[in-house]
Amino acid sequence: MTTTPPFDMILFGGTGDLVMRKLLPALYQAHKAGALHPEGRILALGRKDFEREAYVAQVESQSRPHVGADWVADAWNTFIDRISYLKLDAEHPQDFAPLAQFPVHDPQRVTVCYLATAPQLFAGICEQLARVGLNHPGVRVVLEKPLGHDLASSNAINAAVAQYFDENQLYRIDHYLGKESVQNLMAIRFGNVLFEPLWRRDWVDNVQITIAEDLGVEGRGDFYDKTGALRDMMQNHLLQLLCMVAMEPPASLEANAIRDEKLKVLKALKPFSESDVVRKTVRGQYRSGAVDGKPVVGYLQEPNIPPGSVTETFVAVKAEIANWRWSGVPFFLRTGKRMQERLAEIVINFRGVPLSLFAGPDPQRVANRLVIRLQPDESIRLHFLAKEAGDGMRLQPTFLNLDFESTSRTRRADAYERLLLDVIRGHLGLFMRRDELAEAWRWVEPILESWARSNEAPKSYTAGTWGPAASSALLSRDGVSWHEEL
Ligand code: BG6
Repeated sequence: MTTTPPFDMILFGGTGDLVMRKLLPALYQAHKAGALHPEGRILALGRKDFEREAYVAQVESQSRPHVGADWVADAWNTFIDRISYLKLDAEHPQDFAPLAQFPVHDPQRVTVCYLATAPQLFAGICEQLARVGLNHPGVRVVLEKPLGHDLASSNAINAAVAQYFDENQLYRIDHYLGKESVQNLMAIRFGNVLFEPLWRRDWVDNVQITIAEDLGVEGRGDFYDKTGALRDMMQNHLLQLLCMVAMEPPASLEANAIRDEKLKVLKALKPFSESDVVRKTVRGQYRSGAVDGKPVVGYLQEPNIPPGSVTETFVAVKAEIANWRWSGVPFFLRTGKRMQERLAEIVINFRGVPLSLFAGPDPQRVANRLVIRLQPDESIRLHFLAKEAGDGMRLQPTFLNLDFESTSRTRRADAYERLLLDVIRGHLGLFMRRDELAEAWRWVEPILESWARSNEAPKSYTAGTWGPAASSALLSRDGVSWHEEL
């Protein structure tokens, strides 16, 4: 593996959950794999008045468990040597003064400022970074989601940040784009001739994208109740996956070539009218139930959830893309907390054959299905019908399986690891451009507004199921079922 250039990684929100659970473990994995330059340093910033030792102790207790079986004493210790800590309150401009040690623009060295904080702080942090000279061309800023609460607040953050940084210094992260299978989707589509001719309205009946979680709100009740599934998952992760499925082949793998194509898809999404929201969206909220055989409380009983909250923990949507390739093909998207299992997958259901000749499953319904599994395992399966062995001509379902986990010999980086390495290397292709984000908000906003006006509460679903019954009904109106119901 090639190593990165020398770097300084400055982590705002250094004592927070994201840094402890995701970023430090990802950087450790990159370090252990030899991908980080020996002169790469990590500076964690936080409001706590810690000595370095106290911070390292926190990393030991909160971060190391997330490294799991990959923990190796030598690698871990040399990784920890890269880390230092500085007390910094993002709302106190004077706290930024020590960061002035970085500014000399050394073309050989990269400075990454990772803003793993609440988005209200982004503008202020960028202003202070600029004030201490940390906005020269060698600085890259990573902006974590949620980037705003709606179109206006997202535009305001982006405009404020743009006062101090060029667009090509900004890395708006959506960790779903760092998942191996998502990149494989590009490889499969554009590296083979087999799929591209079929990848259109003439041959695709419907597309389904599911991100189901078995977890609940996990102590994030306060944040989640103000956010909900539409903002937390659909506006970003699901729409980005939709773009990867639906975009035209880019002219190259250059970042803007990819982003231009994704933007066209977002712009072609049919806007929702008030009545579309009623007919084509389902919002749900989990009540108590059981996940994995263990009883779990309902959303309203979770800590920090106000009584009677109508925040959705599940959303399903029928989206349509108004362009020549996709017109008339429904894209069913859904996501939820406390669902039956943790599962993320993209399913392309191809049309049936024109005439049934055989006994067995009816190929006029669904004969071929491409299932791109992102998690828990990563695989791509092509389902088709073949002859059942023995006498007669009877069909049976079967599939070709590209199971990367058991067939690939190279270690596969986790999404955050891959994306962090991309930032240090200056690869913008897997990060969202400002206009993409605005389009995604523009599409989501009428749904948010219509729900806010409605007196109807979200549909209740039992924890540990696939969501409210209305989610199946959304598809059955088009004569379709969710993949797991087939
Ligand atoms: C985050 C959401 O963006 O993605 C969380 O804020 C969610 O609510 C998480 O749990 C899911 O990510 P993954 O990679 O675990 O599926």
